[in-house]
Amino acid sequence: MFEALTARPPDAIIALMEQCQADPNPNKIDLGAGVYKDDAGVVSILRSIKNAEQLWWKEETTKTYVGTSGNPEFRRLMLDLILGADNAAIKESRIASAQAAGGSGALSIGAELIAEANPNATVWVSTPTWANHAPLIGTSGLTIESYPYYNRETLGVDFDDMMAHLKAHAKAGDVVVLHGCCHNPTGADLSFAQWDIIADYMADAKLMPFVDLAYFGLGDGIEADTYGLRKIIATNPETVFAASCSKNFALYRERTGMVVVICTSPETAKITQNRIGLIQRRAISMPPDHGAALVVRVLSDPELRADWETELGEMRERMISLRGQLSKELRVQGAEDMADAVKAQKGMFSTLPLSQAQAEKLRSDHSIYIMNSGRMNIAGANSENIPRFAKAILDVL
Ligand code: LMR
Repeated sequence: MFEALTARPPDAIIALMEQCQADPNPNKIDLGAGVYKDDAGVVSILRSIKNAEQLWWKEETTKTYVGTSGNPEFRRLMLDLILGADNAAIKESRIASAQAAGGSGALSIGAELIAEANPNATVWVSTPTWANHAPLIGTSGLTIESYPYYNRETLGVDFDDMMAHLKAHAKAGDVVVLHGCCHNPTGADLSFAQWDIIADYMADAKLMPFVDLAYFGLGDGIEADTYGLRKIIATNPETVFAASCSKNFALYRERTGMVVVICTSPETAKITQNRIGLIQRRAISMPPDHGAALVVRVLSDPELRADWETELGEMRERMISLRGQLSKELRVQGAEDMADAVKAQKGMFSTLPLSQAQAEKLRSDHSIYIMNSGRMNIAGANSENIPRFAKAILDVL
């Protein structure tokens, strides 16, 4: 049977990860996959999570299933964290949600649910978007189209083009995928004023917002990073969002995330909850527990929570500082536009204006690993190798 299969190109992010792992150069710089590394290049476990793990080891009494929607306390704490405890949809019980296998699991459930509710919806994603958005969302059978977003010349958001395109092509009932913060792969985020405009427009045009919130806390802090999502929810009758604990809690392999659906009424939320549970059941039956149990421990213990906030702040500040250093180096070496963009962009990623051939040259001549699209993860650099990275960029340009 399997002789009928032919190999397909691997996912670009995974392929780059493997290529970098195979490079024996001790001075290689890995700016590929979206994982946060410390100055020593280590993807470490957060102190708050380690401490929660010790406590949890003593407290945990069972490994029985958590149910198709996962841990209710995890979902409650996460909703309070992301939306604020006084959020109207929470108070009005208009929310259906499920713990999911990472942000990816949440995106899958969200897409499947939308496909069940409106199979004719087209899903609009930004150009460019996360490499796995189309494969993950496409499994639901929904049609995927793109809207303009990042301008590779100005290295900023083409907001006018984005709005004009959605106005001309997206029809009522269509879904617009927005990155809540720290846009992957560009780091170019919407301003608060732009969030206000798009939130109003989507409500007027009856478009369904589907917000991917994979990096909250790592751009400008939790409040600022959830501004857009909160605005969308305040303005639109319905919203779907996928939240991840992979990056901000550094729980990558524990696959911890949550899908949330804001509904128009508690009755609809109940039915939606039932359908989400069924989708999870047929995909993976029930979500894994460990990561979510640790998030509950951290968020419900004032000391651990304060420590986690400190650690989150340190990760964010380190990336901002690395962006500042790279920007300075690029400016000195004559690349002012790139210097400005790298400094202004948010979170782990920036998409540098490099061609595929230039990205390949960075790998072959300098052992510096960025994606062929020009996406780099600033958290993979450190203060020591930033000057070498800046010089190499200018060299391949
Ligand atoms: C990335 O974009 O590099 C991360 O989200 C990791 C992944 O799974 O692609």
